[in-house]
Amino acid sequence: MAANPIEVDPYTSLSDEACEARIVAAREKLGERLVILGHHYQRDEVFRHADFSGDSLKLSRQAAASKAEYIVFCGVHFMAEVADILSRPEQVSILPDLAAGCSMADMANLAKVERAWRELATVLDPDEEVTPVTYINSAADLKAFCGRHGGIVCTSTNARHVLEWAFGRRDKVLFFPDQHLGRNTGYTMDIPLEDMVVWDYDQPMGGLSAQQIRDARLILWKGFCSVHQMFRPEHIDRFKEKYPDAHVISHPEAPFEVCRKSDYVGSTEYIIKTIREAEPGSRWLVGTELNLVNRLHDQYRHEGKSVHFMSPTVCMCSTMFRIDPQHLLWTLENLVDGTPVNRIRVPAAEAEQARLALNRMLDVSP
Ligand code: 13P
Ligand code: SF4
Repeated sequence: MAANPIEVDPYTSLSDEACEARIVAAREKLGERLVILGHHYQRDEVFRHADFSGDSLKLSRQAAASKAEYIVFCGVHFMAEVADILSRPEQVSILPDLAAGCSMADMANLAKVERAWRELATVLDPDEEVTPVTYINSAADLKAFCGRHGGIVCTSTNARHVLEWAFGRRDKVLFFPDQHLGRNTGYTMDIPLEDMVVWDYDQPMGGLSAQQIRDARLILWKGFCSVHQMFRPEHIDRFKEKYPDAHVISHPEAPFEVCRKSDYVGSTEYIIKTIREAEPGSRWLVGTELNLVNRLHDQYRHEGKSVHFMSPTVCMCSTMFRIDPQHLLWTLENLVDGTPVNRIRVPAAEAEQARLALNRMLDVSP
């Protein structure tokens, strides 16, 4: 019979330093039975223990390819769900702290999306005319919704390929939950802003008239990332006044005006690659989460590259930050004891439909 799991309480008072050596020891004991995946926004004390790091697309591919018995996901809830959906049934996906959610993902839920679908059906035939596209930053049941309605998932890396696929099948797209990724991507595909509308999920019919819905090509859910929402075009203007030769790079979750003023726009992986390959001596203003920007700053300082954070206020993803060395250690020592804690399990029927939408995405991704 399996032992009871060790409680988290005694771990929360440990120092980061005290956790470090015990995490290394637990990893050694678990060997190839364990893989730790770490998103780029993780704090350094956790990030350094990741076997693989990446953006959402890279990590979901990694989860699908992994043979490890335990996949410990240092990221947020939807990422651990994707790992569970794409891995084999006997593999165990774990999120070290269950409170590590994504506030943007929470801005859409199945009840609201199904209501939107029903309301759209009063104006047109959504299953013939609208492809639902969910950003990977969403709950598994929304991915399942896309799976059963001929839709697809996207990440910040493949949003353009996914939208091309979606428009190749139906005239319109309902894009949730991030309006910014949808708008920024649609605009680069030459969809004029007039052809995009925002679906306000708190209002009947999304706050739109029947005519606005009929005229729209891209229907954008009114969601946003509270971290990337903080970046403003005036931050770029002020920086450029001081450093006219500087380059500006932003994540596509940033507002439209910020992305328009940026020289480069792309996923966390793209941001890293661009700065890694940049000329020594170049200067960069970066519009994405603080832990990643600080890491880039430290990593490339010795090459003479200057990496600056875009906002004057601290914009950290507070839910990513919940994964701390204490929770990681607690998770690993329980695994050593044979008692997995914080397992993320998507019900089989839901996982099957979500997998459809995820596999469509993986098929069209570059
Ligand atoms: P990436 O897929 O670009 O890493 O983005 C994930 C995310 O949550 C950004 O806020
Ligand atoms: Fe979600 Fe924003 Fe955090 Fe990314 S940075 S996980 S979108 S809250």
